[in-house]
Amino acid sequence: MRIESGKQVEHLGAVRVHPVRRVLELDSGARIPSQIKESVEPQRIEREVIASIQQKLAIVLPIKDEDLKVFEGVLSGIPHDCLMIVMSNSQRGEIDNLKTEREILDRFCTATKRNAIIIHQKDPRLGEALADCGYSQILDESGLVRSGKAEGMIIGILLALVLGKEYVGFIDTDNYIPGAVWEYAQHYAIGFTLSDSPYAMTRILWRYKPKISGELYFKKWGRVSEITNRYINHFISTKGKFETEVIKTANAGEHAMSLQLAKKLTYATGYGVETQELMSIFEQFSGLLPIVDKTAAEKGVDIIQTETINPHIHEERGEEHLIQDMLVPSLSVIYHNPLCEDTTRQLVAKHLVELECIPPGREVPQLRILPPPESADTRKLAGIMDNYLNDCSVPKGWLLLARLPLAARKAQQVTKLVFTDLDGTLLHPVSYSYAAALDSVRRLQEARIPIVFCSAKTMAEQQVYRQELGVEDPFIIENGAAVVVPKDYFRFPFYFSWVTDDYSIIELGVPYAEVRNKLRGLCGEREAKITCFGNLSTEEVAKVTGLNLLMAGLAKKREYSETIIIEGNKKHLESTLATIKEAGLSYTFGGKFYEVYQGGDKGKAVKILIELFKLNFGNVYTIGIGDSLNDVEMLAAVDQPILVQNENDRWNKLKVKNLRRVTGIGPEGWAKAASELLASSNQRK
Ligand code: GDD
Ligand code: MG
Repeated sequence: MRIESGKQVEHLGAVRVHPVRRVLELDSGARIPSQIKESVEPQRIEREVIASIQQKLAIVLPIKDEDLKVFEGVLSGIPHDCLMIVMSNSQRGEIDNLKTEREILDRFCTATKRNAIIIHQKDPRLGEALADCGYSQILDESGLVRSGKAEGMIIGILLALVLGKEYVGFIDTDNYIPGAVWEYAQHYAIGFTLSDSPYAMTRILWRYKPKISGELYFKKWGRVSEITNRYINHFISTKGKFETEVIKTANAGEHAMSLQLAKKLTYATGYGVETQELMSIFEQFSGLLPIVDKTAAEKGVDIIQTETINPHIHEERGEEHLIQDMLVPSLSVIYHNPLCEDTTRQLVAKHLVELECIPPGREVPQLRILPPPESADTRKLAGIMDNYLNDCSVPKGWLLLARLPLAARKAQQVTKLVFTDLDGTLLHPVSYSYAAALDSVRRLQEARIPIVFCSAKTMAEQQVYRQELGVEDPFIIENGAAVVVPKDYFRFPFYFSWVTDDYSIIELGVPYAEVRNKLRGLCGEREAKITCFGNLSTEEVAKVTGLNLLMAGLAKKREYSETIIIEGNKKHLESTLATIKEAGLSYTFGGKFYEVYQGGDKGKAVKILIELFKLNFGNVYTIGIGDSLNDVEMLAAVDQPILVQNENDRWNKLKVKNLRRVTGIGPEGWAKAASELLASSNQRK
């Protein structure tokens, strides 16, 4: 997209109000890497930049008995990367509109491979959860969330926080133009790229807001916004010596905020909600009242205004609704703001009397103001809502498989955990299939029992299985050479060797190159033939392992240990292994190949992780599941070691105290071990 550059910014304490920028082209083309960055106007914002923000953006879609065709159109306009949160207050009962909305959403998400949440505002479970997390001001006497679009929006903000998003945007579901919906979401993203502060609001000015009365007339302003902005600007003007008209954008449903900002604001009930957001920003950050949040004051709050090019055409609800339901609340929040000067108040009251909204001399009615979402304990909310949110997820269950939201992960209570070997254990020794264990994996996930992979496989290989199975827990790679912990998994800090975008990594082994160097010295000296994976092509690795080409390629991505094949008679084998040891290297036998490494083993890595789990979650009960010799250290480190059968229906001979042998080859045995663990956890409840 390409928009005009910004001109003069107006300041009100820490609040920066940016002037409206127009869209020049909706799509500014593919990126040309060599192009010099456009620093002078106009400003081009790359598709990738927009998409990267949209991945962190939740779009809240309030809906109350809207035309379902229109709703479908709105869905198709929401960019693919945004998470949709549909907040419904539609009628239920004999004709259950929520059910239909859910069906439409489900069809849409299934066809487009997207995820969404749909919640009915009046669901008693929601009311309970909000009461428990300390946000009961939004509830009525019977403990249900009050009716109203504003209430729906606030719940949307809370859910976006729980789901770990960074931004929240709103789009009404009565919009007739899917292209306009799409454009709003682009503007939201662009607004955030234009702000340097984590506290930002992006607001929209419609180039046209057509009226349909007989013929189409491209009116520029919504009447309510026009009047409201007159008084907001008056309010701002009274704070300095210069008159201003800087607020030009609509106080409409269509706007977005960074969650850092959204969680700090107060919210009015009813249609005064958007005006109150703005007033709350002035109240908290203009410096006219003592500033509570020092960080926000330092970084500043940006109010970005952009002008859209698609016409805004939505359901019109008549003059009465316009004035009584919308204008009165909107002006009321200006009037009752503690910073509002008498001059502005008098003008507001006069205007309302003229419109016959209030009788002369009568006080402007006051709205209920709801406290900032951050006053709710979102961590607790995440914990309480975990299963409930899963029921509200569309397609059902995606949330369980998805990366657990930060807040939920932190709230998670862990009392049991599973360490498991992969090859020959969770994966079948011959077919590498986990099918027989899949159901058990799911049940452990539902019971929130972490599954820690502990395998000779590389990080790249394990990532494939983590993704396929939706496993999000820490994992141990290359036979204990490193412990990989997803960022934010543990609440308390711990020592790690280095970090990537997604993980903190604790290294126990020496780097691959060193191991290779030492091994190189040994090759050729022996009667036995040593073949290193590092010297084989992907095709050759595929052939000797039975892995497909993709997985064979990933198996070669070794960071610490080398996999070798030793060919020769028993005597040759023994002497080769002895030399490996003499060279200061260690080895384990995984059933087919030898794994050679230096420093670190499965046992040490498991012990480190158990300590981290205990530190963060208190006492935990651990089981370990393995199949072969290289699992001995892991099995010795857990409370209950378990051995599955090998491909010959036998158990490998291992010496481990308290070892339980379950029947079933690889994943079949694994499923049994998991069932036993689940049964024991049920008994304990
Ligand atoms: N969840 C929920 N709960 N949604 C609701 C409720 C409710 O109680 N009431 C209405 N909605 C939904 C509608 O289905 C629609 O998608 C959206 O909220 C806006 O409601 P409308 O009733 O259509 O409002 P409007 O179009 O007259 O007013 C618009 O402009 C005003 C200012 O110009 C909205 O954007 C308002 O929020 C805004 O204040
Ligand atoms: Mg509307």
